[in-house]
This record gives sequence, structure tokens and C-alpha cells, in this order.
Amino acid sequence: MNKSFFLKIMSILITAIMLAGCSKDPEASKEPKLLLGFSQIGSESAWRIGNTADIQKEAENSGVSLMLENANQKQENQIDAIRRFIAYKVDVIAFSPVVEEGWDNVLTEAKNAGIPVILVDRDLSGSAKELTTCLIGADFYNEGVMAAEYLIRKADSLGLEHVNIAEITGTENSTPMRQRQAGFMDTIANDERMTVIESITGDFLKSRGAECMRSLLDRYGDGIDAVFSHNDEMTLGAIPEIEKAGFVPGKDMIIISIDGGQEAIDVLKEGKINCVVECTPKLGKKLMETAFKLKSGETVDEVIHPDEKVFADEQDLTGIEARGY
Ligand code: AHR
Repeated sequence: MNKSFFLKIMSILITAIMLAGCSKDPEASKEPKLLLGFSQIGSESAWRIGNTADIQKEAENSGVSLMLENANQKQENQIDAIRRFIAYKVDVIAFSPVVEEGWDNVLTEAKNAGIPVILVDRDLSGSAKELTTCLIGADFYNEGVMAAEYLIRKADSLGLEHVNIAEITGTENSTPMRQRQAGFMDTIANDERMTVIESITGDFLKSRGAECMRSLLDRYGDGIDAVFSHNDEMTLGAIPEIEKAGFVPGKDMIIISIDGGQEAIDVLKEGKINCVVECTPKLGKKLMETAFKLKSGETVDEVIHPDEKVFADEQDLTGIEARGY
């Protein structure tokens, strides 16, 4: 074969390869590997906003096309969103139920459509749970236990004989409200020093945390030794009210919070919160992995809990990494 003939063949081959590359449908390579419908509760807290952002980021990282709907704290909006996901024939549905009950009909529709459902963050009670595949979220009961264990250690270290506790709870009938309260109550039950003087609902909102604290201070004043608040948002609403009433949070009253967002950690370092139990919103990676497994027909673990820590004034707080929410 002479040299010019060889070069001609090579150039034809290279052009053919390039053309084959160019003729690939650009849309085909962008096609998502999985279509996931996710109904988020709302944007009530830094935790929730961080959770949404994490799910969006992990969907993008794993080539998942995400249909995200924000329900603005309303169960009926979540039910409508799930119905839209079914009509759209998504591969997998995920949702964080704002309350535990009232899902039987819509989840039966998802089951009849053959679409697997993942619970994210919050759980269901009753028979509707059997219509879902798994739960990816925190162990809220254990968070309540950890909060109470801290309070018992603190009472020991201060030599307190009585501890009057005001509890500001999250949304009624939500899993974190029920389970954090149960874990806390079960743990203080055998400690005679501990009395919950009132449990009041703050709905996980900063404004409601402030309102609840005002009303608690009006009724009990300096009769409050400790505040157990079910999330950072409500704690951050309550602290300025305690100060306005002339008390020093973290000293005159022991303040315990849950979530571990950056703002609460900063306030913990200032000494106005005594203990923050971590509840991580970073559930996105596990959600994507689980959705892929379900799409390919694999079985998945029924409950997936992330590891969580306690940050408290009994520790060296200097090394806490940026929280990211
Ligand atoms: O379900 C998790 C809880 O919901 C978080 O503690 C709270 O901040 C959020 O709004």
C-alpha cells in the first residue's frame, strides 16, 4: 500500500468516527437516569431549607431528574403533589409527611400505579406505612433521649434539686414532635428532680417559638429552670424573649435545642444555648441511592437513620466544622 493511499484511508476513517460522534443525539446523553417526584413540607426552618438544597444537589450529582414541590406546610398540597407525580408516571415518589395520618387513599393510588414510595425525614402511623417502602430520616426518639440525658448531667453538675422544664414542641401529630417528646419524657421519668410544667406547641416556627416563650414567661416567670425546644428555629425565637424578660439564657435558664444549624451553634458558643442535639438534614445522597435501588427492583433497608451527635457546653466547642445549614 503506497503512503498517499494509506493517508487517504486513515482520513476517511477519522472523519467517519468524528461524524459518528457528532450524529449522537445531544438530548439522548442528557436523558435522566431516573425521574423522582419529591414533595417537601415547606420552608419553615433553616433545617428544611438545608434539606431541600441537599436533595437538589444530590439529584444533580447522580443524574436524577427531580420534580420538587413545596407544600407550604399543608397536607392537602402534599396529596395533590403526589397525585401529579402519579399522573406524570415518575419512577419513584418521595415525600416528608407534614403529619403522620391521612395518607391511605393517595398512597393506595401510588401502589396501584406501581410507583414505589420513600418516606424522607418523617414517618407515618397506622396502615398507610405498609404502602411505603422505607424511611430515610433521623432517630427522633433518640434525639429526645439525648436531650434529656444532657439535662440530667447538667442538673448533676449544678447540684439542682428541682428542675422545672418548659417544653416548646414542634407541629402536633408530626413524627419529630411525637418521638422527641416521648424520648425526652421516658428518660426523665425516673428522675424525681424533673417536672415538665407545660408543653406548648410552637409548630417548628421562629415566630411561634417567640410567642410560646412570651406566654410561658408570663405564667411562670423565674419558675422556669429549663427550656426544651424541639428545634433551633423556635429556640432562636425564644431566646430574645427570655432576655427581654430580664433573664440570662444559658445561665438563669438551661436551654436545650435540636437540629444543630449554624446559627444555633454560634449561639451555643456565645453561651446562650447549653445543648444542641444534632438532626442532620443531609439525607439526599441516601435518597438517590435508595431510589436507584427501587427502580432496579432491589430490596432496601426499611429504616435508614443517619448518625447524630450532641453539641454542648460540657465540651470543647472550638473544632465544630461549618454546618452547611
Ligand atoms: O422533621 C425535622 C424537623 O422539621 C426539624 O427539626 C425542624 O427544624 C424541621 O422543620
